[in-house]
Amino acid sequence: MKHLISIADLSLDDALRLLDTAEAMAATQSRAVKKLPTLRGKTVVNLFFEDSTRTRLSFEAAAKRLSADVINFSSKGSSVSKGESLKDTALTLQAMGADAVVVRHSSSGAAHRLAHAGWINRPVLNAGDGTHQHPTQALLDAMTLRRHYTNGGRPAEPKTTLEGAHVVIVGDILHSRVARSDVQLMSLLGAHVTLVAPPTLVPVGVEEWPCDVTYNFDEALAENPDAVIMLRVQRERMSSIGGGFFPSPGEYHRAYGLDIERFERLTEKTAIMHPGPLNRGLEICAEAADSVQSVIVEQVNNGVSVRMAALYLLLASQGAINE
Ligand code: CP
Repeated sequence: MKHLISIADLSLDDALRLLDTAEAMAATQSRAVKKLPTLRGKTVVNLFFEDSTRTRLSFEAAAKRLSADVINFSSKGSSVSKGESLKDTALTLQAMGADAVVVRHSSSGAAHRLAHAGWINRPVLNAGDGTHQHPTQALLDAMTLRRHYTNGGRPAEPKTTLEGAHVVIVGDILHSRVARSDVQLMSLLGAHVTLVAPPTLVPVGVEEWPCDVTYNFDEALAENPDAVIMLRVQRERMSSIGGGFFPSPGEYHRAYGLDIERFERLTEKTAIMHPGPLNRGLEICAEAADSVQSVIVEQVNNGVSVRMAALYLLLASQGAINE
């Protein structure tokens, strides 16, 4: 495989190779000199048509730590505002010597189109497309969970799966590319996944997904899961704060928020995760987000290692994912 577009494209071996390579990359990041010469002479273009903090910065850090040159493109302030298409933007970047393209776009399928329309002949890494996929987020979530589930938060042994783990994913499943990617990857790795959401935020066709679904957060927590992944309520994909999906922020927080009462009920074994950015007081209270059980900062840190691994496997070892 030449691209990283969707978790659905990965075999178990591919996923384990990515996670094990990410652990190897993480080991290099505790050295005094973090930079590796691996991608010297290569150019990575970050093509962001949608806002991002963590993904954009960590792809940039990952490419730079592998000694690649980085060109950052943001649609704000670009010729996209004059009507330039994704195709013409991609052709322009290829003409500037891009060796790999990282793309985030509000349209589901944009990364696939960029990779397979024949416009550019370079590896494409999906940094989030609409409500479809966010594969590197799922990989960094799996890396974080694998460490906590199997080794007390320390680096996981090679080829470790998530067999036997129970992961609860809570909130705005409907708009979440993270939920779609996490369900696919966690189940591929052997975990049991339970989705929790109000009926209005459960996607049509969810019964085909490899997971359970419940509307009752308290029942899911009573099963003492190994991790609870709180999803951001994606207000920008709703016409107003609740957008008709829930009565009010207060009611959402009471039924589906990780509030103080639910947080205090968690046992020590449950890792608290969130892809960010956080709506504190809506899907998660500050006490939970800032607690010792929270691994949210570790998720961000692992994001750099995962993105180094993806760039390395697609660029340095020429399509080694899924070969
Ligand atoms: N988790 C995530 O994708 O965050 P950003 O939108 O800040 O990149």
